[in-house]
Amino acid sequence: MLIKSVEFIKSSSKWQESPDPQFPEYAFIGRSNVGKSSLINAIMNRKNLAKISQTPGKTQLINHFLVNESWYLTDLPGYGYAKVSKSLRKSFEKLITNYILNRKNLVNLFVLVDIRHSPQSIDMEFMQWCSESGIPFALVFTKSDKLKPKAIENKINIYREELLNFWEEAPLSFVTSAEKKEGGDLILDFIEETNKILKENKVQF
Ligand code: GTP
Ligand code: MG
Repeated sequence: MLIKSVEFIKSSSKWQESPDPQFPEYAFIGRSNVGKSSLINAIMNRKNLAKISQTPGKTQLINHFLVNESWYLTDLPGYGYAKVSKSLRKSFEKLITNYILNRKNLVNLFVLVDIRHSPQSIDMEFMQWCSESGIPFALVFTKSDKLKPKAIENKINIYREELLNFWEEAPLSFVTSAEKKEGGDLILDFIEETNKILKENKVQF
């Protein structure tokens, strides 16, 4: 997909404040610091579209971007950030789950996991929650530049085995590096294909 335009629309603290849901929406989610904002910038080929920092928990709002005047790309706050109080963490979780359950134009969630780590229960639980809630998602491995090809293959297989404990089929997955700008084109192809199907079926939100 050719990115002709990308426009920051707004930051919202809850789904009720989010922009009108007239376009299909694709949201990036995952643990704090996993690389959501970096990957959004890499895919959109913009340096500072989504804010990046060394400090986890940077994105605490829901950020909407409108791409090619036809679909939303959304940067959601990271879940499971340990260094905030338990009550704040709970309120973030509520914000995120409410958003996902109520956002009627949400077409797909991209659940990001750092390829260097073994499957973490918080991510597995989140994906199970998506599945139980009927929320379509795809798995996105980030920071692949940090591992050698053999190690990448190894991690993907470990994940696959873990995922197959819960599902008969592993979800669609992408291997990416924001640093090397790799893997984003396949995500964009997937979005383009999905948008085409929605259009052909005249889906309205
Ligand atoms: P929060 O907004 O806090 O939830 O974080 P985030 O998931 O948006 O992560 P962010 O994009 O801010 O990146 C976190 C850190 O990881 C930054 O220091 C990035 O430079 C680094 N990072 C992100 N993507 C990559 C990648 O593909 N490769 C490498 N080597 N580093 C990355
Ligand atoms: Mg971020």
